Amino acid sequence: MVESIAPDAQSVGQLPRPIPFFTQAASFEKVWPLVAEHVNDVADRGKYSHGRKVGEFEKAIAAYTGARFAIGVNSGTDALVLLLRAAGLRPGDEVVVPAFSFFATASSVSLARGVPVFADIDPVSYSLDPASAAAAVTDRTRAVMPVHLFHQMADMAALRRLATERDLILVEDSAEAIGMRWDGTHAGLLGAGGVLSFFPTKTLGALGDAGMILTDDPEVAELAGVLRHHGRLGRTIDHIAGISNLSGVSGTNSKMDDLQAAVLMAKLTRLDEEIARRAELAAAYTERLAGVPGVLRTPRVVPRTAATNPVWYVYVVEVERRDELVAHLTARGVGTETYYPSPLHLQPCFADLGHRPGQFPNAEAACARTLALPLYPDLGTDEVDRVVEEIRSFYGGPR
Ligand SMILES: Cc1ncc(COP(=O)(O)O)c(C=O)c1O
Repeated sequence: MVESIAPDAQSVGQLPRPIPFFTQAASFEKVWPLVAEHVNDVADRGKYSHGRKVGEFEKAIAAYTGARFAIGVNSGTDALVLLLRAAGLRPGDEVVVPAFSFFATASSVSLARGVPVFADIDPVSYSLDPASAAAAVTDRTRAVMPVHLFHQMADMAALRRLATERDLILVEDSAEAIGMRWDGTHAGLLGAGGVLSFFPTKTLGALGDAGMILTDDPEVAELAGVLRHHGRLGRTIDHIAGISNLSGVSGTNSKMDDLQAAVLMAKLTRLDEEIARRAELAAAYTERLAGVPGVLRTPRVVPRTAATNPVWYVYVVEVERRDELVAHLTARGVGTETYYPSPLHLQPCFADLGHRPGQFPNAEAACARTLALPLYPDLGTDEVDRVVEEIRSFYGGPR
């Protein structure tokens, strides 16, 4: 357990114990014996990449999410690229994506040889605005890719309607959304497929990079499975040097490491408990931040039900003078992150698409005002109190 701040440290004028933006040290401590068991299992079998532990983990994630197929790869980014290709994206096809997201949402489209076409976000869910997405559809649009950001899903009812009406492939960037459900269906399974990222900071985080494709479509699953492994059919790797491509498609090397699968098998046993703790912490922040001057918006905490299951991957607020607040919190030992400082349509690598500032005001406002506060299962409620106190002290409100 993370210790609380010693009161005498404050009274003698020292800086209190730092609160990192993210750590999973304590979380790992709790599952370490189980991690060791799975790791030994991998070592005993002698297959370290794309082996049986990956297969076990794929089955476990399929069971957890309800996906017919779960295909392990080496990152969420690769999962997106391979999913787009497997779902039928052809070179030059346009894919509508939100202007506010992690970089890989757009770069995966380029890497799959498509063209990202940006649309604005809804200012509350921070996810693709269905009306703006509809306005971005052209004769060349082949797919629409909403992103489920932070703790909420995009408006999947409206986006599914749009995909059906305009005959588009619906692919979900559900990299942040493990455990989230829309009307009972897990994120990533509302269209052709979705992805998960197991990057260490994610709700289910590995000890390095790993990702997964989720789909109910056997054809998408088969092609994605082939693409992750140089285009090779089958999963056994006996003689890597003698590999031959039997499928007729050119793939890549995006196999998942069995050591990451071992870590993730162990951590999966605590996922639901950790999701519940994240929700408690989010509720504590929202309650304590109410009325704090300078805080423009806190997320609404809605109850989790079987059908709708918000999962607090990160806790994001909107604040005035965000960058000054970040400097203040950093000086006081409180870690924060800015998801995401610059909108995708204004990133230099997409300059040739000809976008200009002001085109997607909600995305641009979110980039300027949002700030993620520390949130992880082992954060203490007393630490939430301290983060809120530091924010209050910055804006000068009553204590
Ligand atoms: C929305 C979103 N898309 C894609 C990714 C890419 O995942 P990874 O970092 O595993 O490549 C991430 C995570 O970083 C993400 O948050």
